[in-house]
Amino acid sequence: MTVLFADVVRSMGIAAAVDVERLREIMTELLERSAAVVQRYGGGRVEYTGDGIMALFGAPVALEDHAFRACLAALAIQEEADRLAVEVQRRDGVQLRVRVGLNSGRVIAGEIGSGALGYAAIGEPVGFAQRMEAVAPPGGVMLSASTARLVEHTVLLAEPEWVHIKGAGEPVHARRLVGIGPRDGLLRRAEASLVGRRWELSTVEGLLDRAIDGCGGVVGVVGSPGIGKSRLAREVAAMARRRNVDVFSAFCESHATDVPFRVVARLLRTAFGVEGLDAEAARAQVRTRVRDADPEDVALFDDLLGIADPEFSLPKIAPDARRRRLTALVNAASLARQAATVYIIEDAHWIDEISESMLADFLTVIPQTPSLVLITYRPEYQGALTQMADTQTVALAPLSDSETAALVSQLLGPHPSVGELGHQIAERAAGNPFFVEEMVRELTERGVLQGHTGAYVSTAEVGAATVPATLQAAIAARIDRLDPKAKRTLSAAAVIGSRFGLDLFTVLGVEPVIADLLAVQLVDQVSFTRQPEFVFRHPLIRAVAYESQLKSDRAELHRRVAAAIESREPARAEENAALIAEHLEAAGDLHAAYGWHMRAAAWATNRDITAARLSWERAQRIADALPADDPNRTAMRIAPRTMLCGIAYRVHLQVAGNRFDELRELCTAAGDKSSLAIAMSALVLESVYQARVREGSQLASEAMAFIESIGDPTLTVGLSFMAIYAKAQSGEASDVLRWSQRVIDLADGDPAKGNFIIGSPLALAFALRGLARYGLGRPGGRDDLRHGLALARSTNPLSYVQVATYVYFGGIPAGALRPDDSAMREIEDALEIAERAGHDFSLAQAREMLGFALVHRDTVAERDRGEQLLAEVGEMLRRQGQQGNDLPLVEVYLARERARRGDCDEAIALMRTAVDHLVRQGQLVCGAGIYATGVLVETLLDRGTDGDVAEAEAAIERLATAPAEEVVAVRDIWLLRQRALLARAHGEEARYREYRDRYRDMARTLGYEGHIAWAEAMA
Ligand SMILES: Nc1ncnc2c1ncn2[C@@H]1O[C@H](COP(=O)(O)OP(=O)(O)OP(=O)(O)O)[C@@H](O)[C@H]1O
Ligand SMILES: [Mg+2]
Repeated sequence: MTVLFADVVRSMGIAAAVDVERLREIMTELLERSAAVVQRYGGGRVEYTGDGIMALFGAPVALEDHAFRACLAALAIQEEADRLAVEVQRRDGVQLRVRVGLNSGRVIAGEIGSGALGYAAIGEPVGFAQRMEAVAPPGGVMLSASTARLVEHTVLLAEPEWVHIKGAGEPVHARRLVGIGPRDGLLRRAEASLVGRRWELSTVEGLLDRAIDGCGGVVGVVGSPGIGKSRLAREVAAMARRRNVDVFSAFCESHATDVPFRVVARLLRTAFGVEGLDAEAARAQVRTRVRDADPEDVALFDDLLGIADPEFSLPKIAPDARRRRLTALVNAASLARQAATVYIIEDAHWIDEISESMLADFLTVIPQTPSLVLITYRPEYQGALTQMADTQTVALAPLSDSETAALVSQLLGPHPSVGELGHQIAERAAGNPFFVEEMVRELTERGVLQGHTGAYVSTAEVGAATVPATLQAAIAARIDRLDPKAKRTLSAAAVIGSRFGLDLFTVLGVEPVIADLLAVQLVDQVSFTRQPEFVFRHPLIRAVAYESQLKSDRAELHRRVAAAIESREPARAEENAALIAEHLEAAGDLHAAYGWHMRAAAWATNRDITAARLSWERAQRIADALPADDPNRTAMRIAPRTMLCGIAYRVHLQVAGNRFDELRELCTAAGDKSSLAIAMSALVLESVYQARVREGSQLASEAMAFIESIGDPTLTVGLSFMAIYAKAQSGEASDVLRWSQRVIDLADGDPAKGNFIIGSPLALAFALRGLARYGLGRPGGRDDLRHGLALARSTNPLSYVQVATYVYFGGIPAGALRPDDSAMREIEDALEIAERAGHDFSLAQAREMLGFALVHRDTVAERDRGEQLLAEVGEMLRRQGQQGNDLPLVEVYLARERARRGDCDEAIALMRTAVDHLVRQGQLVCGAGIYATGVLVETLLDRGTDGDVAEAEAAIERLATAPAEEVVAVRDIWLLRQRALLARAHGEEARYREYRDRYRDMARTLGYEGHIAWAEAMA
């Protein structure tokens, strides 16, 4: 048994400060509340000791978990005291604090009982409990070593300390009680023993065994509401714990489906053991788990978990990079974890999209770890987590008739009076165990059934009692029967969430009455710390409690919850913005909800672009729904639409069509030219990415004219890039030259001017002007490229990646630049930055750039690596269905490597297809088509059959005669080279030498470094 001893700290002080009458009032109140607590946790008779109480757990009735219950009671007493103390402080100006001590020991039967001496008869163990109380800190609970030993696996204890106690010479060991679980959020609860589900359980057991052996897996448990998914999860958790496997779980909630990161953060917080810690302690804990990780990565992880240091500002990296780095960090931690683990994700049908996709990434390493991931969901969910490779699925069917009957008779018991009712219940429940339970509870509360579980007697005439028609009706009837205060508590809780503490109720203006709800099992307590937490026993209960409220009441509660979330943690308002928006939207407060959605989107732009997209989409929907006479409506409709156009290419949204037309109309009506300019630029970019090059060029001209007409230099500098890019793709080098010149003039040396979309428009403009100069055969190209690179490097790392990509990607295959050692260093550098900080898109481009550079190098090892990289890039482009000219170009250079290894036939076939593709796209005279033709011609001439020579000649002619808007130097130089090679193939030595020399001269005059080297290599 365990003895609990509780006493008021320095009660003499209190006695002096308040009058006798009041003192008695306070003490009585405290003692009564404490006695009620002891009773709630199954303690025995309470004895008053003057200033405190003493109670016994485990006697006179033997309770196996007496020490645990005493701990629960001790914390609950402290909690009651805290609550009372608030009032005492206010009224009397004194501090009320309580100490509690616990000690466990043996009792000999018969020693305790009704004897006049009562507990005093036990003597020693009680005395020791009192000593523990005396050394407890005010407001604390101290456990003797004997109690600590009994509960150390079920509660949270501070490190052991040595304490001096009265009457003992040597100091003794004691431990302070910090709290109780929730170690896993799934505490034991009284429920019917499991019926059926043998096959399902043994399937999961098999997977668990495999996981323990190091071969992890993912299992989905699917079934309709109340069918027993959570129950199966609890059984699995218990099974795992019996095998000493850690269990971590997280659940999704119906009202948080649009709150990004919520579930993933929750699961990671429990898995990393930071739940319930303050932010600083949490950060320290995280660092013990990821010792070797890059500190910046760990800081990103803190931010994800919502425990970031307020001093810390996010590194300036793209959200994609953040995702890659977090995935690498979490996966490394999973792989490093040796201990077998079960992760449970409940109710995935309510998971937010971001958590879902992050978890999908994290789950990829599970097969290599000793862990089992169990995901429960209702059949409507068909998202990413059900589609993981190797996921097993366990579908829960309704219980069979005989299983249902077994469950019913287990609950009702054997009394003849319940037989008929039992049949009705079983029939109505149709194999849904939750419905069975709820019907029994409902009948009990209605008084039709009397007695207790397993031993009910029916008071109704046979056939007279009715059972509820549906599960929802059963729950609704039970809720209806609650006393108004309890009902109000339940309603408010339903608005707060599935899991709730008591703190929010005050702000909601609701006095929480939890005891009734616990008693009728509508909610369960899951955390017994001093800030207790509760959960709805079942999501359906929450749904019914939510739905059955008056809409206006509910709206008011939502509004207050929103305000409370904001005021409780003002520093985290941005992080909570999506949740606040959700509550305000439910409250019908549309303007405010709009504002919070926009804030949520802004917060998300650096974290997850899809999250930002979702928030803007919701803001857009709200704005659209505003009444037509709302003066802000048009502006509110424009803002999120403009942002969506701006990020469209990153999240695969279509700009052309409705999205653009609608926005143009709105902007025109409102006279908002800047937003329209942004949308037009997005449209230009989209058409180029989708390989509609001519259309893109046309749109680019329109967009540039429009942007110029606005006359805002910053806007012009910021937006020109899209149009210039389109012109570069269509080979209109003069436009590229002119417009990049304009940016250079307007930016006036400021690399940051207009940097709202790209890192440094000025640096990029230099790079583009340089490439255009090369293309047109004008001087100064090389200096421009160098200057652009230097500017970008001094501006910011991502801008450097972007500029380097243009410079080397545009320069090396064209023959303008040579991939010498210093270029290779710059390229590798850019790739490294892209890996740490870039969008997936720019990382892919950086890899592609390196691939092209490497296949232009001399050593076999480098070319092999280049081939490998290009093969990966090609695979990715194919997967994404990319339509631009990147893929054909990659294929041409991959084919060239193939030819080099001797497989000319296959290589030439591949090259032909790729070049034809470029010709069809109208890309023959623009960069890609020129070098692709060059590579094809050279490969044909190398193989050198008569047919090949003729084909090469035709290809050269096709390139030479293709109409072009302007003189293109890059075509001329490639043509000279190919004509030289063709002449040699024909055996015309003199012609060969003539072309070769002209080629060499042109390369030198124009400063085409790549061609200079190639020309020199021609004998
Ligand atoms: N096989 C079973 N034997 C006995 N009781 C069961 C069985 N299956 C489920 N129950 C009980 O039925 C109730 C509802 O089950 P559970 O909470 O697991 O449903 P669920 O499938 O998770 O529903 P939801 O989709 O709404 O979350 C629980 O109280 C559970 O203990
Ligand atoms: Mg469930």
